Amino acid sequence: MSLVPNHQAVRRTVNACLALPLILLAGTAAADGDGVFKSGENVYAKVCGHCHEGQVGPMLKGRQLPPAYISAVVRNGFRAMPAFPASFIDDNALQQVGEYVSKAPAPAAKP
Ligand code: HEC
Repeated sequence: MSLVPNHQAVRRTVNACLALPLILLAGTAAADGDGVFKSGENVYAKVCGHCHEGQVGPMLKGRQLPPAYISAVVRNGFRAMPAFPASFIDDNALQQVGEYVSKAPAPAAKP
């Protein structure tokens, strides 16, 4: 057995360590201003983008995922993704973010 750790395992550990501060970051994001979300895009920018525009979660835009599927994942969590209760994202904001993500076009490919 080699003493040199395998790169994939190291990557996974690093990713897991990165996810925790991001969850904490998401917690403070909702507390800025009055804690009210202005639109689906605003929820996405304040909460989802920390993971879904980075390397933590899969790309959601441009996939036309059904809004009901998106809301269910957000409320209940899904494997590595934490659940967000109504005290964090209320039903109205949840519906808005589902519609926003479902319709959002895929980002332009990086050069
Ligand atoms: C702390 C990081 C994090 C945050 C914040 C987060 N997600 Fe996720 N999300 C993930 C990860 C990681 C997965 C992949 C879970 C897996 O496959 O194990 C995921 C998966 C998903 C999926 C399923 C994707 C698929 O391919 O089927 C949806 C939908 C989703 N997230 C929506 C959202 C929305 C909407 C928000 C904002 C309200 C959000 N997520 C916030 C980490 C996050």
